[in-house]
Amino acid sequence: MLVPDARGGLDARMAVDPHALFDEWFAEARLAEPDLPEAMSVATCGADRQPSTRMVLLKQHDERGFVFFTNGESRKGEALAANPRAALLFHWKPLKRQVRIEGPVEPVSDGEADAYFATRVREAQLGAWASDQSRPMTSRQRFEERYQALAERYEGRDVPRPPHWRGYRVVPERIEFWTDRAHRLHERRLFVRDGGGWTESLLYP
Ligand SMILES: Cc1cc2nc3c(=O)[nH]c(=O)nc-3n(C[C@H](O)[C@H](O)[C@H](O)COP(=O)(O)O)c2cc1C
Repeated sequence: MLVPDARGGLDARMAVDPHALFDEWFAEARLAEPDLPEAMSVATCGADRQPSTRMVLLKQHDERGFVFFTNGESRKGEALAANPRAALLFHWKPLKRQVRIEGPVEPVSDGEADAYFATRVREAQLGAWASDQSRPMTSRQRFEERYQALAERYEGRDVPRPPHWRGYRVVPERIEFWTDRAHRLHERRLFVRDGGGWTESLLYP
């Protein structure tokens, strides 16, 4: 329960842990969102200073941060190599809620990436080898032939994780929970990392 302080803001001492609040909202999204509640946009900005965004899937979340997996040589991978910071966005339409997360990005360990890669379906594992993600493709047919050749090469054995296929953990410095309210008087709860803890405040909608 949040208690308004004398200024009409929130008493920071009553602030909840935003990771716990995220877990609560995510559990509700899993029930309410018919398709891919774990889909989120990830925005990056590399050396060219041009922001870019795309959808990815949230694969892990804990106190350390929010993890997605991708090709490290993709456009987003290159941007993160030049500027390891990102912004995530979830929009759960049935709940009329959004969550915005910002902070530095760190690679997950090889062990974590291997463990997650091993859980992917075989076709996706082969696809991770076959696709030069984000680079120009001259022939769709050549891509499919490459996939087929890889399927034959690994027939009867485990597909190893390609070295360029990585996990990235967004370590939140700022998490905002937005809830639709009547008359566009929406509620915005902002959590900003403050040393080892969090400071909570409200923002005008
Ligand atoms: C719902 C959805 C989920 C996606 N999940 C991922 C993902 O987890 N990892 C990934 O590399 N691409 C994912 N993609 C594809 C990306 O949006 C994007 O096309 C690709 O990663 C290349 O992006 P880039 O050129 O900006 O690096 C997903 C697309 C959609 C629509």
